[in-house]
Amino acid sequence: MKNRQHDLFLICPPGLEACCVAELGSLGVQGEPRQGGVAFQGGLRELYLVNLWSRCGSRVLVRLGEFRAKDFPGLYRKALQLPWGSYVRPGWPVKLRVTSHRSRLMHSDRIAETVETALRQALGPQESVPGDGEQVVLVRLEEDACTVSIDSSGELLHRRGYRQIMTPAPLRENLAAGMLSLLGWRGDEAFCDPCCGSGTLPIEAALLRSNLAPGMRREFRFMRWPGFRHGLWQQLLSEAARKTVDPGFGIILAADKDESALEAARANARAAGVEELVSFRQEDVAVLEVNPAGGLMAANPPYGLRLDLPLRQLSPLQVVAQRLQADWNRWRCGLLTPERPPGGGWRSAALLHNGGITVNLWAWRAGGE
Ligand SMILES: C[S@@+](CC[C@H](N)C(=O)[O-])C[C@H]1O[C@@H](n2cnc3c(N)ncnc32)[C@H](O)[C@@H]1O
Repeated sequence: MKNRQHDLFLICPPGLEACCVAELGSLGVQGEPRQGGVAFQGGLRELYLVNLWSRCGSRVLVRLGEFRAKDFPGLYRKALQLPWGSYVRPGWPVKLRVTSHRSRLMHSDRIAETVETALRQALGPQESVPGDGEQVVLVRLEEDACTVSIDSSGELLHRRGYRQIMTPAPLRENLAAGMLSLLGWRGDEAFCDPCCGSGTLPIEAALLRSNLAPGMRREFRFMRWPGFRHGLWQQLLSEAARKTVDPGFGIILAADKDESALEAARANARAAGVEELVSFRQEDVAVLEVNPAGGLMAANPPYGLRLDLPLRQLSPLQVVAQRLQADWNRWRCGLLTPERPPGGGWRSAALLHNGGITVNLWAWRAGGE
């Protein structure tokens, strides 16, 4: 397994495929965008690197094999030949996730059972001590073509490990990182989230700005594999530590009108190791003061427009739109919301999904359309 090249796949939220191709490019890995992810090739180094550095991805899969399967005995025979021993030890719990479309084999439970029986048979007798956690195996049948993949990430990649306190409707960390990438945040300009909630956008902005690898502080499933190369992983961690830059004190502003949201944002930023890069301010967006020199503003304010009310009672979405026109016109802005924000200058930068709802990332710049 040491120097073998693998077919690898970085799964990501729909709409972030191009961001993931760019991420892989910055790691020296060439990726091919597909719907819901990016296909790429690499050895263990690339597999570990992408898990360590991907900000926008959800998990990295290793493709174990691809073959035709029209009946269960055929599925069993082919599955028996897959290289299970590199990824699973006898007796370890596995979780099979099956999808089947336009294929003769339709019954997902029976497909899962057949592949698991083959895996157990291939691995031989169980060891007395089972390993910790489940190894996820994905089986996909599409027009009788069966693809079997194994998950290398474990917990989804957006779980960086810094979210200590939740507030209502938090953004997933990889969606926040994707927003920043789609909005072209450069890291050397000011950043502000005026409705920061648990702080995901400012924290991701700070991680980017200091070039901190998002996976530095967590565990991955591949660390349990029989072929895990501890030395290689340590080397990648040391390289990542050397690439960290000290960006100096905060030009990143996290504001919210709610005191408990700010407490959560501060605790989460501390856990992420970026507390000192962020300024926290409890303020209603209607009266928030920001740096007149401009920068990038990004938020997912509560959804909904309220009509014909004084500024203080308008929805934050309306307030931001009004204030951009009136006094923040040196800022660029990106808002994640289903409805187009009021006023001119907005264009849809991407169609994304947040909390089960299809939303647009609306981008604004003075005089833009
Ligand atoms: C959907 S949440 C943002 C979630 C955040 N992005 C996260 O990842 O946790 C919306 C936030 O807007 C804040 N908010 C609502 N009205 C506001 C206002 N007028 N001024 C400032 N913040 C406001 C709420 O307190 C809430 O924390």
